Amino acid sequence: MTWLITGGAGYIGAHVVRAMAEAGERTVVYDDLSTGIAARLPEDVPLVEGSTLDAERVARVLAGHEVTGVVHLAAKKQVGESVELPLHYYRQNVEGLRVLLEAVTDAGVASFLFSSSAAVYGMPDVELVTEETPCVPMSPYGETKLAGEWLVRATGRATGLATASLRYFNVAGAASPELADTGVFNLVPMVFEKLTEGAAPRIFGDDYPTPDGTGIRDYIHVADLADAHVAVARALRSAPGADLTFNIGRGEGVSVREMMDQINAVTGYDRAPTVTPRRPGDPPCVVASADRIATELGWKARHDVHDMISSAWEGWVRLHPEAARA
Ligand code: UD1
Repeated sequence: MTWLITGGAGYIGAHVVRAMAEAGERTVVYDDLSTGIAARLPEDVPLVEGSTLDAERVARVLAGHEVTGVVHLAAKKQVGESVELPLHYYRQNVEGLRVLLEAVTDAGVASFLFSSSAAVYGMPDVELVTEETPCVPMSPYGETKLAGEWLVRATGRATGLATASLRYFNVAGAASPELADTGVFNLVPMVFEKLTEGAAPRIFGDDYPTPDGTGIRDYIHVADLADAHVAVARALRSAPGADLTFNIGRGEGVSVREMMDQINAVTGYDRAPTVTPRRPGDPPCVVASADRIATELGWKARHDVHDMISSAWEGWVRLHPEAARA
């Protein structure tokens, strides 16, 4: 049994590859290396460079490596960019998936795990978001993830492909420093960058209807997220025809201010944040109910926010040694 991991050289993908290897699963990585980094991969995991839009190459990899399951992470993931370049996002995330699914069904692959996002929920008006909470994405990025879920589910129903969509909440941290996120697009690296530059980190709005006025999110350690992929991949293998959707979070809300306090404590910088106006489109509070995957598969996150920040910081200092404090 071999799993094809598309986007396996990316930040989350490389963690999934490592977790699969630790669980004794054979993998092959398919990545166009547009943002992925080959050096993140273990030496004994083959890397095939290519796009999921390239039907012939995908078909060759599936046949050549006798692939029986696919974990599909290759995608564009920047919300702001998706607003500027919606057609590019639909092509990469939706058409790329459609081409891949065609090759997957032609090749008789049995299982398909799709990387989705809490962005499918948009601005949920509930304390805890369950998988039944209505999906109303607020950006082209979120739309491509929801459309992706539909494509995956419809294909499963039509062909018997066992499918799962995992809706990631706010991913942070690293299993080891060399696997850390190199992008500066989310709260934790954005704060690290400000601190390293000697500037004050920014709080995007402190007038939300939350206890301290700042936005609340459900942060999940990337190593826990990777373990969830292993659990779901195994469940798919033993449940032909499965049609699964899971939130992947901790079920615990943490405010921006609480994150800033913990970042100050971990990094040794004691820099008061400045408050700027809200970032347009940011919801006040997005916290997962993570009960379904706990009940159905027994998976639960193990790491807390401190683990996420300290491991992310080790990765940051590896890339930016000038950031380290004595
Ligand atoms: C982002 C994506 C979302 C995706 C999610 C998980 C956007 C707009 N949304 O969510 O689609 O599902 O990641 O991958 O990119 N913040 C500050 N100061 C900063 C940076 C962030 O106050 O310098 C705040 C934000 O306003 C928010 C929280 O920190 O309240 C988290 O922000 P971020 O890490 O960008 O993720 P989300 O916006 O929640």
